[in-house]
Amino acid sequence: MSPRPLRLFLDSADPEQWERWLPLGVFHGVTTNPLLLERAGRPCTLENLAALGDRAFALGAREIHLQAWGETTDQLVACGRKLVGLAPQVAVKVPATEAGLAAARRLIGEDIGVTLTAVYNAGQVLAGAALGCAYAAPYLGRLDDLGRDGTAEVVAMQELLQNTESPTRLLTASLRSWDKVVELAWEGCDTFTFGPAVAEGMVDDADTEDAADAFAEAAAKMGAEIIE
Ligand code: G3P
Repeated sequence: MSPRPLRLFLDSADPEQWERWLPLGVFHGVTTNPLLLERAGRPCTLENLAALGDRAFALGAREIHLQAWGETTDQLVACGRKLVGLAPQVAVKVPATEAGLAAARRLIGEDIGVTLTAVYNAGQVLAGAALGCAYAAPYLGRLDDLGRDGTAEVVAMQELLQNTESPTRLLTASLRSWDKVVELAWEGCDTFTFGPAVAEGMVDDADTEDAADAFAEAAAKMGAEIIE
């Protein structure tokens, strides 16, 4: 399977973080979930998610992942149908539970893009690929927290999707460092979601800052005037 273009998502439900990071243009979109809404102090309501969707697309997001809530398959499907209408390009997230898989089948049957989330094993990735999920999201950091080798498991999941030539993208989540994103990209992973703290790793190289400062000093010394 030919390599797919890299796709990065900002894992945050905080528009203030979106305002900082989305204008960089490196993020394909944003991913959210009820825990991220709680951390951002934002209500988990259709009204608020609609407002967040508007904001995300105004800031240049090309896709927003919104997580459905509910206990039963019917509840997840009903919620997913509401979510998909809130913004131009919504992927509906459902957990990789039995109810979530059944809901994914029905939502995909209605041409709704689905992200299978809370993935902890390769079998769930296989199920998501068999269903035709757009994404399957393994929680690398949480796998490590459980004493498992999250990196090895995620790389194996990626190989599984490539070997089966599946259109499902492995959206690696629960990432704790920028170096881990780079390492996984080296190993062939191509789709990631991570929070603002990890994104800092893209822009915090002290040597680059020093070099940029030297350019600015030389320009000023040679008469350059700042152009507003
Ligand atoms: O998208 C899922 C992700 O937000 C989970 O990350 O850091 O809570 O394990 P974390």
